Amino acid sequence: MLRRPRRNRKSESIRKLIRENAVHANDLIQPLFLTTGVNKKEQIKSLPVAHRFSTDKILFEIEECIKLGLHSFIMFPKIPQDLKNPEASYSINPDNYYLKAAIEIKDRFPNITLISDVALDPYNSDGHDGLVKNGIIQNDETLVLLEKMSILQADAGFDILGPSDMMDGRIEAIRYALDSNKHTETSIMSYTAKYASAYYGPFRDALDSAPVNDQNIPKDKKSYQMDPANSREAIIEAELDIMEGADFIMVKPALNYLDIIHLLNTNYETPVVAYHVSGECAMLIAACQNNWLDYNTAMPETLLCIKRAGAKLIISYFAKDFLNLAKGL
Ligand code: PBG
Repeated sequence: MLRRPRRNRKSESIRKLIRENAVHANDLIQPLFLTTGVNKKEQIKSLPVAHRFSTDKILFEIEECIKLGLHSFIMFPKIPQDLKNPEASYSINPDNYYLKAAIEIKDRFPNITLISDVALDPYNSDGHDGLVKNGIIQNDETLVLLEKMSILQADAGFDILGPSDMMDGRIEAIRYALDSNKHTETSIMSYTAKYASAYYGPFRDALDSAPVNDQNIPKDKKSYQMDPANSREAIIEAELDIMEGADFIMVKPALNYLDIIHLLNTNYETPVVAYHVSGECAMLIAACQNNWLDYNTAMPETLLCIKRAGAKLIISYFAKDFLNLAKGL
């Protein structure tokens, strides 16, 4: 045998020499769930690695993450039921507690990157990312709200806005709204290829944001999020988002969609972000709790493979844990 590929695997030192990919703190974005009140750190049953924090507690959490080398966070609010309505009006209330929390966070930690969520679902009593009228999600009417939300979020100091709504034309609408309000420096991380996936369950538990069970309200998000059967549409979405001014393009979920991550990374220069979503983390945790998988090896392997597929950045509920683990090695 002239070629023996095993020679390049014969010791850890040689394996390190030929290793092509690694996950660093700079690759990771930590998601955070925010809730109202004070002194709260609530467990999320279907996502044991994550918590909902009140603003005072989220500051401690961010501080801990910073000590591990993380410096980038994406924050989602749980909105109390009595503040939700079909107009999602709390989303554009300048006094809303999500915006106030952002101001506090950026005041305390000016050097971190704080990423927002731009979509109506946490605020919408119908549980959809867009306004619902006669059972139909209203694209262009929703854009008006998204523009207002975006300006308020930029005012509050979010560094990057994350439109997760999948309405057509929203990147251009938001970019234009930001630029006309002196926010030319606020970035946009677009949820470019966001699929109508079954893996968002624990996230919707965390925010109590699932579409409501009502015969006049669509029970799923298939009329705006992408069909898991398709990859060509991801190219259309990426073309549009980049043309409309997106600074980052996201693929979501990550693991069942590694081909899409690869496709976008191969075709575009704009950095590709993978969202390793709640259900993907939950199923790994569940298997580990049953001793069917080993958490300390399966979890880092998962993040590494998302990186190898072509993700420049990974949003994962495991970010903090990954660095904790790396520190212990
Ligand atoms: C909604 C939104 C969702 C997630 C992020 N933003 C859920 C949905 O589309 O229903 C899911 C993230 C996760 O599952 O971790 N705008």
